[in-house]
Amino acid sequence: MIAKRRRGELPDQDARERAGTALDQIKYNHRVKVLIFGGSFDPPHIGHATLLKAAADLIKPDRILVIPAFRAPLKNPQTVPAADRLRLLKLGLPPMLPPRWRRIVHIDTRELLSRRRVYTVETLTRLKAEHSDWELNFVIGSDWATAWSKWRARKQLTRLCRWWTALRPGTPRRRIPEHFTLIRRPMPDVSSTDLRANLAAGLDCSRWLHPRVAILIARRGLYGTGLSAALKSDLDPERFVHTLAVRRLAEALARRWNEDPRRASLAALLHDCGRMINKKRLTRYALDHGLQVPLLRTVARRQPGLLHAYVGEDLARRRFGCRDHAVLRAVRNHTLGSPSMSRLDRILYVADSVSEDRRHPQAAPLRRLAFQDLEAAFTASLAAKLSHAVGQGAWVHPLSISLWNRLCAKP
Ligand SMILES: [Fe+2]
Ligand SMILES: [Fe+2]
Repeated sequence: MIAKRRRGELPDQDARERAGTALDQIKYNHRVKVLIFGGSFDPPHIGHATLLKAAADLIKPDRILVIPAFRAPLKNPQTVPAADRLRLLKLGLPPMLPPRWRRIVHIDTRELLSRRRVYTVETLTRLKAEHSDWELNFVIGSDWATAWSKWRARKQLTRLCRWWTALRPGTPRRRIPEHFTLIRRPMPDVSSTDLRANLAAGLDCSRWLHPRVAILIARRGLYGTGLSAALKSDLDPERFVHTLAVRRLAEALARRWNEDPRRASLAALLHDCGRMINKKRLTRYALDHGLQVPLLRTVARRQPGLLHAYVGEDLARRRFGCRDHAVLRAVRNHTLGSPSMSRLDRILYVADSVSEDRRHPQAAPLRRLAFQDLEAAFTASLAAKLSHAVGQGAWVHPLSISLWNRLCAKP
């Protein structure tokens, strides 16, 4: 039984100890529950907000940390400068959350401002060292969760925090590693990869983006949204019509042959962007920008027009911010070809050779053939191009000849 203390009297030793222990207990029990949401947010969209809200509703954190990566280790290089991504994130993610969660969101820019690739294990170790009372929960999209085997220091990561994810439509549960807690809420079927491709292809993405994000993307021409407008103003009208025809055919062929139609669409839109450069200036451009064109001097002397594919690849990267290597490669290979061409390369090659605006007699039959036998249409398109060049007495690049010989060598 505790003796009653008179006013002004100090508590006895036991009471002081008991009070101290209780205080320690409270201190000990008060762990700060932190929800971390990492990613590229390139661009931020409604799927990010839905996932973060669902995780917060479940975890009920004291603090939410959104950590944009400068360069996400598992992803291709981001297409948009870090400063723009940060602006998009500020405009596009917190405002889509309910006020309860919006109030406790902090955007941690240290990874982004480090201007280098930062692994998640580094970030979590730093946070643990700086805040020993933080209880960490990390939420990621199911595309990242299914790629868990590629993450660095996985054992350490599972010790450092608790992992959460939610299934996006089409992701099977069995592909999510055991240590993830599944958030059983419906997620919208949208990803940044899809959005980038759709934006570049000029499709309306407003239903997936916060209005202010959509406005900033359009105003700054991010993700290739300025591409169609630039092509329309800088290519001659006939070339622009040809570009659109190639795009239609490339998209259709990609669907037929299980390639990504948006990628094919972007490659087709970009394929002749090198034609923006005057024929006489293509060689100068190639030399000034150090383009790696096999036999550049000979091409420049014999067939300078062929350089537009290499110049186009460079413009696609520098001017239009394309970082998709498969797309860039298809653009580069659409004139000379090369002995090893991907299916996307071949689709673009065929689409360029036999698009609806082409008037040569083989165009229509080869267009039909391309939907039945892509390889046959590709070989026939190359043969038509080579025989036309030989018929004109033109020089033929060794890359095209090697490609032809390789195709002939196939049984
Ligand atoms: Fe071309
Ligand atoms: Fe073309």
